[in-house]
Amino acid sequence: MSISLVRWRGSTVAVVKIESAASVEALRKLRNQTSAGFSSFNGHISADDQKRWWEEMRHRIRGWTYWTYAESVPLAPIGFGLVREEDGRWWNSIGVSPDFQGRGFGSLITHDVLVRFGGVVFAAVRLDNAPALLMHHKFDWEEIDGPEPERLRYFRSNTGAA
Ligand SMILES: CC(C)(COP(=O)(O)OP(=O)(O)OC[C@H]1O[C@@H](n2cnc3c(N)ncnc32)[C@H](O)[C@@H]1OP(=O)(O)O)[C@@H](O)C(=O)NCCC(=O)NCCS
Repeated sequence: MSISLVRWRGSTVAVVKIESAASVEALRKLRNQTSAGFSSFNGHISADDQKRWWEEMRHRIRGWTYWTYAESVPLAPIGFGLVREEDGRWWNSIGVSPDFQGRGFGSLITHDVLVRFGGVVFAAVRLDNAPALLMHHKFDWEEIDGPEPERLRYFRSNTGAA
């Protein structure tokens, strides 16, 4: 398991690269807990669906889960952040468990994913998703035109731009 540690507002957060079966399953649970916010597919993902999806997509995804950390072990899952390649662009998606929302972790994950990925990332955010819109406006993202302006707002990260 590949773990690194980041300091965040006085506590230590463990960052686990999504690559093992256990981390793919942790991602599934977090994705199901946060599904209402996403721009595509808001239903429940089963363990089998998740395994199939991962086998198909794993070479086009870089992702991490974020955990509380004590006594040298990751404890409770806080959230996830990933980027996925589609049509030549890398798209991000992040989610924070309802237990940890509103405490700055979404901001931490958004920033951390950009730094770890190290390139330009795109995001599509639903117009009714106020927290996600505010989060992208607050950070280093630029609003751009996109194909579904009546439903989604599109962003491109400035971090990682040449
Ligand atoms: C969007 C999401 C990741 C934000 O995570 P979070 O940990 O709650 O975010 P933060 O605490 O870092 O807050 C970031 C900013 O969002 C805004 N925000 C957070 N919660 C909010 C709420 N309930 N209502 C309005 N704005 C909110 C604030 O502007 C905040 O900035 P602040 O530091 O000035 O307060 C989280 O709500 C989530 O997982 N939602 C479901 C999945 C989702 O929508 N993913 C994004 C898809 S693009």
